[in-house]
Amino acid sequence: MSHNIVLLPGDGIGAEVIYAAKDVLEAISKKYNRTFQFSSYDIGGVAIDQHGTPLPDETVEACKQADAVLLGAVGGPKWDNNPSDLRPERGLLGIRKALDLYANLRPVKGFPKLLHASPLKEEIIQGSDLLIVRELTGGLYFGQPSERIDNGNAVVDTLSYTKREMERIIDKAFQSAALRNKHLTSVDKANVLESSKLWREIVEEKKSEYPDITVEHVLVDAAAMKLITNPTQFDVIVTENMFGDILSDEASVLTGSLGMLPSASLAEDGVGLYEPAHGSAPDIAGQGIANPVAMILSSAMMLRYSFDMNQEANEIEVAVESVLNQNYHTADLKNEHGTLVNTSEMTDLIVKAINQ
Ligand code: IPM
Ligand code: MN
Repeated sequence: MSHNIVLLPGDGIGAEVIYAAKDVLEAISKKYNRTFQFSSYDIGGVAIDQHGTPLPDETVEACKQADAVLLGAVGGPKWDNNPSDLRPERGLLGIRKALDLYANLRPVKGFPKLLHASPLKEEIIQGSDLLIVRELTGGLYFGQPSERIDNGNAVVDTLSYTKREMERIIDKAFQSAALRNKHLTSVDKANVLESSKLWREIVEEKKSEYPDITVEHVLVDAAAMKLITNPTQFDVIVTENMFGDILSDEASVLTGSLGMLPSASLAEDGVGLYEPAHGSAPDIAGQGIANPVAMILSSAMMLRYSFDMNQEANEIEVAVESVLNQNYHTADLKNEHGTLVNTSEMTDLIVKAINQ
């Protein structure tokens, strides 16, 4: 059986890291006798330049037909002053919506070798291993109206959710907690927002369906603080779109670098999309020095969640860890005693570890 993977390299370092992930997948395909077929489509700024839109129809069509999608990153200064419907980010938000990718899973696991690269004290991050379950297709990102009003003298963004949208992400989080350490932290702002009050009610209602999961409610401001003062208290965190966006960047410091953080965006029934949590990093794009690990770990998540290839996914994760354990690091990860490598050297090391 052949697996058809659509690659959406996008902008900045997106292309550099996505071809790194492809090399790793090709090593896996040889070792495990799997057939992966790759095709590439445009999204984001390159799509604006090539097709006049950040999300061409043929890209959406190809993703819908695919068995899984890998996405690099979108955005860059070239398009920063574009009107909002011609911004690269619109392409990313558009494909999330078009594929109904409501569940964004962002695992955050400190690698022992990288503890020193974190700005936090080692004793604080030691042993931290958490999963952020972020709602991805609702809330402030998509609510209407979102516009300037009153002749530009006022502005409105809308935070809207249906009950059903909340229920499905909360269910996903309970299910994720059941597969891990059975502790769920629901993050909201129920002391202020109506949407958060409903969110909290739903979590309370659902508790009885998952009796072996311990549930805790934490306000988002407190959660932001606890993430960096006591990260080991978390197992699974579930939260709405915007809170999840902010908390997941914050949590990335636990891994030493945003360049280490993979993610999976899943639909209820349909194709999954896998992308690093980092952006297009225009400041280092084109230099071949980007850290490909977040993208490579995202492709491992693809193997696990979309193709049920657990052993192959583990193989990639173990390979990454073994290369880090040998003290190799990219420029984003400070390590005075280690060996600094670029994108392709890091990729080759991971491929070599797989082939061993
Ligand atoms: C992310 C990114 C995106 C988001 C941007 C690029 C629109 O920050 O995937 O976290 O806000 O969701
Ligand atoms: Mn983000």
